Amino acid sequence: MGVIRITIDDHGIECSEGEFLLWVALDHGIYIPNLCAIRERREPYGGCRLCFVEVEGQEEPWTACTLRVKEGMKIYTRGPKALRLAKTAFALILSNHPVDCAHCLKTGLCELQKIARHLGVKLRTQRFKQFLRNLPIDETSPVFVYDPNKCVLCGRCVWYCHEKIGIGEIGFAYRGFQRWVTTFDNAPVGQSECRDRKEMVEICPVGAFGAKDRTVGKTKIYQTGGSK
Ligand code: SF4
Ligand code: SF4
Ligand code: FES
Repeated sequence: MGVIRITIDDHGIECSEGEFLLWVALDHGIYIPNLCAIRERREPYGGCRLCFVEVEGQEEPWTACTLRVKEGMKIYTRGPKALRLAKTAFALILSNHPVDCAHCLKTGLCELQKIARHLGVKLRTQRFKQFLRNLPIDETSPVFVYDPNKCVLCGRCVWYCHEKIGIGEIGFAYRGFQRWVTTFDNAPVGQSECRDRKEMVEICPVGAFGAKDRTVGKTKIYQTGGSK
């Protein structure tokens, strides 16, 4: 892959042709909201719809995690159309999310808090009707508490369990509003093969996996970077 030059928000940047824009931007200290992206993943998931950017000469915004950079591209991370789409996607995520940061194990490390600050919106939103789940909180793991009600369905823990460590014991169950991450026989995630893995806390961008030991999660080994 050859070296090319692009601009992001008027910053000239050298990068490798064909890289995904999201990682180029984050590596250069330009934050683009994201929840579902994982650098190591072969193909982007593209599920959270938060990473929209505008590309000069193109009518519709693109998701930065699926956009491969080309020579001379001019990218705007704060274009009005991109921000409108990201704010709508964020409000939809929050319509299923019980916001209780004061009592949440992830507060201060939570990507939702960071994205709300970046987009200049409140975490408590009335924009869409609220549908909160009432699933049991699982405290059976020695290292994490799993609160599926806070899950934003980003798929990162599922990728970690299947692709990274090759266990494949947890996955998505059901569809639509009922969708959640569980084991295949609905046994507690805290009793699964992943029960001792603090990486479940580190890979989860929100408070669905929170550390029993509050020092876990601060390394953010799989977190998504950015300057803000
Ligand atoms: S997951 Fe994030 S937004 Fe939700 S309650 Fe916890 S800290 Fe607050
Ligand atoms: S539990 Fe966390 S990492 Fe897993 S899908 Fe939900 S939000 Fe994503
Ligand atoms: S990070 Fe691009 S769609 Fe989730």
